[in-house]
Amino acid sequence: MTQATRKILVTNALPYANGPIHIGHMLGYIQADIWVRFQKLRGNECHYVCADDAHGTPIMLKAKQLGMQPEQMIEQMNQAHQADFANFHVAFDHYHSTHSPENRELAELIYTRLREKGHIKTSVIEQLYDPQQKMFLPDRFVKGECPKCGAEDQYGDNCDVCGATYAPTDLKNPKSAVSGATPELRESEHYFFDLPAFSDMLKAWTRSGSLQDEMANKLNEWFESGLQQWDISRDAPYFGFEIPDAPGKYFYVWLDAPIGYMSSFKNYCAVTGNADFASYWKQDSDAELYHFIGKDIIYFHSLFWPAMLKGADFRQPTNVWAHGFITVNGTKMSKSKGTFIMARTYLDHLDPDYLRYYFAAKLTSRIDDLDLNLTDFAQRVNADLVGKVVNIASRCAGFISKKFDGKLAAQISDTSLLDEFQAAGDSIASAYEKREFSKAMRDIMALADKANFYIAEKEPWQLIKDPAKASEVQEICSIGINLFRLLMIYLTPVVPALASRVQEFLNDSFTWDSHKVVLKDHGIAPFKALLQRIEMDKVNAMIDDSKEQNAVAAKPASGNDELQQDPLSPEISFDDFAKVDLRVAQIVNAEHVEGADKLLKLTLDLGGETRQVFAGIKAAYDPASLIGQHTVMVANLAPRKMRFGLSEGMVLAAGPGGDELYIMNPHDGARAGMRVK
Ligand code: 2FM
Ligand code: ZN
Repeated sequence: MTQATRKILVTNALPYANGPIHIGHMLGYIQADIWVRFQKLRGNECHYVCADDAHGTPIMLKAKQLGMQPEQMIEQMNQAHQADFANFHVAFDHYHSTHSPENRELAELIYTRLREKGHIKTSVIEQLYDPQQKMFLPDRFVKGECPKCGAEDQYGDNCDVCGATYAPTDLKNPKSAVSGATPELRESEHYFFDLPAFSDMLKAWTRSGSLQDEMANKLNEWFESGLQQWDISRDAPYFGFEIPDAPGKYFYVWLDAPIGYMSSFKNYCAVTGNADFASYWKQDSDAELYHFIGKDIIYFHSLFWPAMLKGADFRQPTNVWAHGFITVNGTKMSKSKGTFIMARTYLDHLDPDYLRYYFAAKLTSRIDDLDLNLTDFAQRVNADLVGKVVNIASRCAGFISKKFDGKLAAQISDTSLLDEFQAAGDSIASAYEKREFSKAMRDIMALADKANFYIAEKEPWQLIKDPAKASEVQEICSIGINLFRLLMIYLTPVVPALASRVQEFLNDSFTWDSHKVVLKDHGIAPFKALLQRIEMDKVNAMIDDSKEQNAVAAKPASGNDELQQDPLSPEISFDDFAKVDLRVAQIVNAEHVEGADKLLKLTLDLGGETRQVFAGIKAAYDPASLIGQHTVMVANLAPRKMRFGLSEGMVLAAGPGGDELYIMNPHDGARAGMRVK
């Protein structure tokens, strides 16, 4: 029975055009690419598009900082992003830019339709304005003292130290991060999209689809707290599209970004003629539409985007699939540890199929974070791909080429294992379809174990010594090669470069249905090494390179002078200092805090008394690595009520923040409770 061909359009979140692609980005692109390759291998009509997200204040300012026109910078970035994706074998059918004529046209069309239906409103708002730069400041471009805990140098939306969230106007002593000027409050008319008008439609969309559980739960929370009007305009100067009939007002980058999915596809249809744009985007389209995104942008994709499409008479996504973030060696990617790895740096040292396999082996359909443990990465790839899969071919191919002129046996009498491998195709396909890649990889590796066991048991290297057993050896090795071939068909979406070397070796060309046949009386090429093992040296060299790049990037033009960056404070008396009771404390527990981006909850033993302290060191430390360590705390600091509980003291740490924070660690011998003086 042949299945009807499905029409599928797949997109990945569009990367911002102000920085390079790093391996954190790659998780989502590799996930979607595997899914797309699977659909194509199955024979479905599947189109895969992406684009650079090229608008907004950060991009405008970055270009200015580089002394370039934004158009020039985004063009260069676009080329670099495309090269990174292509080298990771992420095979977009089309890669475009949101700064394109198609995107302008579609953004204007969607906006105009929304306006005609009464879904656009205006209202005057107050916002901080940089009088020197003559521009309104986005929240992240205002810095000042946290209104809750007084910490200095905090962003306008939340505090790194205590985790408080607030408006930029709440900051004490606010400064523009662009010029250093003191911002002033100014009024401006903004345009709003009436999201609440779409509540019922969005609730129905949430219920009708097969959304991920975590996403449906989040949506329900948002529905409960009530949907808000969405501010879709920004004032000049802004790098983006001017709003029709609103001089000096621009579409907020997040308005035209998802429209980039449509415009990339539109340009693809125009350039290649491979698909009909309207049939994919019209209201009653029979095509499927899937967006792969990171968990941080669910709000935009599951609320604003379906509502905008609905309001403008386009179809809604069939589904939006979110993935988690990656950690490296158990913590957030860290520039100082060399684990903030750029895609290009990875490619300079390692084969992309390794990372693709490792991600696949750990990916599920859920929104969980995924840890790239670099030791485990090397061991897993070596054990599975090299030690299990490629090993099957290397154990059998030599006999076929040397003793049987490169020909597989014409007859195979014992087909039991081949039958089992072929029968597994459907459940492996179903795991791919459901994005349960880790299950697919587990099933494939369990089969690989069986194939290796079969060869080990048959011992063709012994049998070959007896000339009378030659045809038996040919049959065993032909079975081995066919088992290897079936595994590689199943692995093709994950490791495309390896799969293409294998197809060359086998004189074959894979589709998913190739697994239904067994190669007999078929010539294969002499065996060449198909995949190298990962050497830890290469992994370490990649980490060293990443550290080095960061050191170069972080070094200020004037030299890395800590005192210049952060001058000494005014002199104090000894009595002032003596008021601070510093004590050695042992960290008896450290854990993540649900809902806090920056904080770890520490339980500190002061030699009899315990204290609970929230410390803004999540980006710098894996909690497990802190347990048992001694540190130094301010023991007589008045307790502070924080959003997550009471913080009873403070641990001492040095460094600018983020992943560059280093907590104090007394020399061996210091005991909990000792005064530091
Ligand atoms: O969060 C981001 O990196 C955005 N550039 C994603 C945009 S996705 C889509 F809506 F364009
Ligand atoms: Zn604070």
